[in-house]
Amino acid sequence: MDYKKISQADQDYFEQIIGSAYVYTDLEQLQLHGKDHTEDLLFIPEIVLKPANTEEVSKILAYCNQHTIPVTARGAGTGLSGGALPIKGGVTLSMERFNKINYIDEKNFQVSVQPGVINEVLQQAVKEKGLFYPPDPASKGSCFLGGNVSLSSGGPRALKYGTTRDYVLNLEVVLANGDVITTGANTLKYATGYNLTHLMIGSEGTLGIVTNMVLKLIPAPKNNLLLLASFTSPEQACKAVNAIFLAGCNPSACEFVEPEGFRLAADMLQISFDIPAAVKAYLLIEVDGNEMDNLMKECEVISEALYDLEAIDILFAESADQKEYFWKLRRSIGEATKYNNTYKEEDTVVPRGTLPELFNGVKEIGLKYGFRTVCYGHAGDGNLHVNILKDKLSDEFWNTTLDNAIVEIFTLCKNLGGTISGEHGIGLVQQKFMNVVMPSTNLALMKSIKLAFDPNQILNPGKVYNV
Ligand code: LAC
Ligand code: ZN
Repeated sequence: MDYKKISQADQDYFEQIIGSAYVYTDLEQLQLHGKDHTEDLLFIPEIVLKPANTEEVSKILAYCNQHTIPVTARGAGTGLSGGALPIKGGVTLSMERFNKINYIDEKNFQVSVQPGVINEVLQQAVKEKGLFYPPDPASKGSCFLGGNVSLSSGGPRALKYGTTRDYVLNLEVVLANGDVITTGANTLKYATGYNLTHLMIGSEGTLGIVTNMVLKLIPAPKNNLLLLASFTSPEQACKAVNAIFLAGCNPSACEFVEPEGFRLAADMLQISFDIPAAVKAYLLIEVDGNEMDNLMKECEVISEALYDLEAIDILFAESADQKEYFWKLRRSIGEATKYNNTYKEEDTVVPRGTLPELFNGVKEIGLKYGFRTVCYGHAGDGNLHVNILKDKLSDEFWNTTLDNAIVEIFTLCKNLGGTISGEHGIGLVQQKFMNVVMPSTNLALMKSIKLAFDPNQILNPGKVYNV
């Protein structure tokens, strides 16, 4: 596909539409928008536009479609698969000015919100009304809801409450040609033909640009308890995850962490966290609900299941501060790994009961190829983040041979009934591995859908898969 380079005339047009104060061509802004949280990749856009409303986005897309200029939408840039990187140059469309919560509808338990609102800002706003928006990616303090929708982001609470997908009722979307559509209805049920809302969720900005969303809310649970269990064997810890459910419990989070993950996080945060030599794995488990008595009972049942699987110690967080301390450590692992080492993060996901096989397989593949991994993640969902560390491995190995190992890891996921991404998406970096799990028939269907929405391929070109 040949894309047009942006000319002065194009820039003049954009300035006329959104005002020159929101059109950026200086190197600092271009570089800032050329990165996200994925490894150390840099792809500089030709121009950054920060529109303020749907009409402006519509005019920009209609123009870019007519002139074959690539447009890459961008939220807060916290993505881990390079989805917001403008690899073909062109326009980066920053959604940061779409930062309003339009209204909270307490009667219908829903909220109308713009895509540039930070996840945690929404969580707090609805919490003040006794309502709950559960999806909580590790980057919740900075990531935008629009980015969450574009990847169907998860997080620890996805275990009990589901991912972003489960909370999107309806979307306003600007299509590649500038047309504005509403994808569905503001209803809890929807059986009205193909579900365009769900097609848009997880499409990583390749099918349209979301400019408004209606999200579902639920009543906020009044209490929670958090416990940290340690194990001498990672395999036993993985097995304990299923044992918790078999014992009839339904935790709101069940996170697996290798000790090295907590060590890296504690180092980066410069806080102390004592890891006894015998500990080889942790499970961080949260239960939530309204009645404290019930939560205590649930924790007793969980503890029994954990001790049956040879947990060596179970620590209860005693205060809100201690809970926040553990969660902060947990949420910081990805960033801390990057801070400490060059790394690649694989977002493996398998049916929960096969987690021990996935963990052992990843370690075996690491031994075979000679790399270390730090594994952590949402064990209750069978979603294991595998951080592959570069350490002193050669660039040659890192940039070429390592792909073979990643194919082996992903083939294992596939054989276990899983796939190559649970919540970080495909974006740029996982694209070359799509064919490990995606037959050509499926890829061809995706291609037809892409071309139906975006025949000139201007929307986030080169992402998810190559058309
Ligand atoms: C986490 C992010 C990396 O779970 O998904 O920490
Ligand atoms: Zn995660």
